[in-house]
Amino acid sequence: MSMLSIRVATPRDREAIRRVEERAFGQPAEAGLADALVAAGDAVVELVAEDEGEIVGHILFSRIRVKNGKGEFQAVALAPLAVEPSFHGSGIGGALIREGHVRLKQAGETLSIVLGDPAYYGRFGYGHASAANFESVYQCDALQALAWGEAPERGRLVYPSAFTTALAA
Ligand SMILES: CC(C)(COP(=O)(O)OP(=O)(O)OC[C@H]1O[C@@H](n2cnc3c(N)ncnc32)[C@H](O)[C@@H]1OP(=O)(O)O)[C@@H](O)C(=O)NCCC(=O)NCCS
Repeated sequence: MSMLSIRVATPRDREAIRRVEERAFGQPAEAGLADALVAAGDAVVELVAEDEGEIVGHILFSRIRVKNGKGEFQAVALAPLAVEPSFHGSGIGGALIREGHVRLKQAGETLSIVLGDPAYYGRFGYGHASAANFESVYQCDALQALAWGEAPERGRLVYPSAFTTALAA
């Protein structure tokens, strides 16, 4: 890896982001999810990793809501995250997650939720224990949360409709 840089995604990056997502997942669903979330205005933080001007990684945090007896709270969902297969294991995924967290905290966000491998996301502070009390169609051991400061610990997670439409397609 040489000259890796991470920056905010722009509308001109969509095609390259699509390509990285499709190649990383080996299917178009996650690329479609990213496009649908951005088109619907649900993106909160979206970053790309560039290696010598080429986009080799992508991460999206989108707006979700937590509804409980105390009201409705804003949170984010980390999905999708993708790194170009030939660049796997060079720290790009981790760099995207960490930079995303820095920007989320700066923006005042307090809670990020991910559905993914605990062995990977545990490295970045996510844990199932902090997500176990949320009601969600995605509730399982792979549902993990990371909170910064005051954040709801229980309630119903409401995802943007793109999660149902794009991932079911
Ligand atoms: C998951 C992914 C984004 C990681 O990107 P990356 O740039 O290779 O990750 P990093 O270099 O930061 O970290 C690599 C480390 O994580 C480990 N790792 C990668 N995927 C893992 C997984 N699913 N479970 C556990 N560990 C994993 C690697 O073995 C490696 O371990 P090491 O540091 O001990 O060698 C990338 O493998 C990818 O795009 N995968 C396909 C899409 C995907 O599964 N996205 C996540 C969906 S939840």
